[in-house]
Amino acid sequence: MDTAHRSFPILVALFVLLFGVTSSQPYEEFLQCLEFHDSNITSIVYTRANSSFSSLLESSIRNPRFDTSATPKPLLIFTPRQISHIQSAIRCSRAHRIQIRVRSGGHDYEGLSYSTISPSLTFLVLDLRNLRAIQVDVPSKTAWAQAGATLGELYYAIAAESRTLAFPAGMWPTVGLGGHISGGGYGSLLRKHGIAADNVVDAQVVDVEGRILDRASMGEDLFWAIRGGGGNTFGIVVAWKLSLVSVPPTVTLFTVSRTAQHKGIELFHRWQHVVDKLPDDLIVMASLSRDNVVNPIQANATTIQASFNSLYLGSIEGLILMMEAKFPDLGLRRENCVEMSWAKSILYFAGFPLNSPLESLLDRTISATGSAKFKGKSDYVKEPIPISGFEGIWEKLKEVGVQTGGLILASYGGKMSEIPESSIPFPHRAGNIYQVEEVAFWVEDGVEAADGYLNWLRGLYEYMTPYVSKNPREAYANYRDLDIGRNGGGGEGDYRRARSWGSSYYKNNFDRLVRVKTAVDPANFFRNEQSIPPLSSWR
Ligand code: FDA
Repeated sequence: MDTAHRSFPILVALFVLLFGVTSSQPYEEFLQCLEFHDSNITSIVYTRANSSFSSLLESSIRNPRFDTSATPKPLLIFTPRQISHIQSAIRCSRAHRIQIRVRSGGHDYEGLSYSTISPSLTFLVLDLRNLRAIQVDVPSKTAWAQAGATLGELYYAIAAESRTLAFPAGMWPTVGLGGHISGGGYGSLLRKHGIAADNVVDAQVVDVEGRILDRASMGEDLFWAIRGGGGNTFGIVVAWKLSLVSVPPTVTLFTVSRTAQHKGIELFHRWQHVVDKLPDDLIVMASLSRDNVVNPIQANATTIQASFNSLYLGSIEGLILMMEAKFPDLGLRRENCVEMSWAKSILYFAGFPLNSPLESLLDRTISATGSAKFKGKSDYVKEPIPISGFEGIWEKLKEVGVQTGGLILASYGGKMSEIPESSIPFPHRAGNIYQVEEVAFWVEDGVEAADGYLNWLRGLYEYMTPYVSKNPREAYANYRDLDIGRNGGGGEGDYRRARSWGSSYYKNNFDRLVRVKTAVDPANFFRNEQSIPPLSSWR
C-alpha cells in the first residue's frame, strides 16, 4: 500500500472525529445525538423517508415558487415541542455540521426558512409550529407569545381577552411571529405605534451555545439586534414579550378604487402629498395594479387601478370629517366605510367576507396567492413621484398580464418619524413618505415563465430608481430580495459584500449588527444567504 492509500483511513477517522459524520450518512449520527439528549425525540423528526415529510414541508411553504421538485430540500424536519429540543438540535447540528434553517410561519420571500440556493447544502428545518402558546396579561398590557404562533393566533388571543387591546404588526394572519418580528413587522397601526419590533419588551432566545437567554441575560446589544436585524442570524427566538397598545372598541375601514379614467393617477399623485401628514389615528395605504375595464365601449381594454385602503381609530363620522378636511379629492362617502373591532379589521384587510367569524384568524392553511408564485422588491419614497413618473409606471404595468404585477404602498409619518433610526436595527423612519413593494405574481410553471416575470419586475425596479431613496437605496428586510446581494450559497458571509445589501436593509445599523454577530456567534453557525456575517469574514 502506498502512503496515500495508507493514510486514507486515518484521514476518514480524523474527519469523523472532528466532524462526527461521514458524508454518506449525515443524519444517522445526528439522530443518535438527539436521542442521546432525549430518548423520545425521534417522534418529532421527519426524514425524507417519512411519509409525512413532503406534506409537512409544503404545509408552510407560502411562496409556491419554492415548492418545486428542483427546490433544494432539507435532510430532515425537526418539530420541537419544548425548549430543550431546540437546545439539543443546536448542539447536535453543530457537532454534525448540519446547517439549521429555522421556520416559524414560512413566509420568507426567498424561501430561506426551508430551502437554500445551494443544491449541495446539508441542512435541516427546525419548524416551530408546535411552539405557539400565547399568554395575554390585560392589566400590564403585555403578552408572551411563542415564535411559532401566527399573527392571526396572536390577534385572536388578544381579542379573546380585550376588545380594546391590539398589537401593531402585519396584516396577513398566517405570518409567523418568529420571522416577522425578527425583520421588523409593520401593519395598519404603524403610524400610531410604530412596528412590531418597536413594541417588544423581552424575549427568550436559545443561543449558539444552547443557552436559554432572556433580555437581562442576553444583554442590551443582542436584545437590540434581534428586534429587526433579521432571522436565522443571532440565535433562535423561542418567544417574544410584547407590549400591547390600546385601540377603540370600534375602528373604521374603507376601500376605494379608481381607474385611470376616473383620475386614478391624479389621486395617487395627490395621495403622496397628504398621507404622511395625516393625524396618526389614520392610515391610508394604496396599491396600483392593472385591471380590466368593464365597459361595453372599451371592451377588452385595460386600465390602471388605484386602490386606497384605510384604517381609522375612530367612528365613521369622525373619519368622513377628517377625510373631507385632509384628502377631499378622494370623495370618500359613508357607504364606502365599515365599522368593526380592530381584530376583525385584520380579516377585512386579508379579503375575508365581512361576516367571517373571528376564528378565521386561527386558520393556518389560508394562502395569500393561491397557486401563484411571487417575487417582491421594496423601496422607500422621500419626495412625491411626479405625474410623469406614474405615467411611466402605467406603461410598465401594461407590459404584464392583468393583476400579475403592481405596487403596494404603505404610508409612513406619525410615530414612525419620531423613533430614532438607531433605536432598533429597522432604520426606515423620518423622511419617508411611504414604503413601496413592487411585486409580480404568476401561475405558469417553468423557468421560462418565471424568468419573464422576474425580468419584468427587475425592469420596474430599475424604472423606479430616480424616484426612490438613494445612497443607500433602502429596502425592507422582511421583503427579502436576493437580487440586492447575498452571502455564499451556504450562507458563508463576506463582510464587504454584505455591506451593500446590509446598508439597504439596516443603513448605519449594519456595523453594529456585525459587531453583535461577531460577539454572539463568531463562527457564523446561524446563517443563510442574507444573514449578517461576523467580522472574521472580512476579506
Ligand atoms: P419564516 O418562517 O419563513 O421566517 C423568515 C426568516 O426568519 C427566515 O430567515 C427564518 O429562518 C427566520 N426565522 C423564523 N423564525 C425564527 C425564529 N424563531 N428565530 C430566529 N429566526 C427565525 N410583512 C409585514 O411587515 N407586514 C405584513 O403585513 C406582511 N404581510 C405578508 C403577507 C404575506 C402573504 C407574505 C408572504 C409576507 C408578508 N410579510 C409582511 C412579510 C413577512 O413579515 C416576512 O416574510 C417574515 O419574515 C415572515 O415571517 P415567518 O415567520 O412567517 O417566515
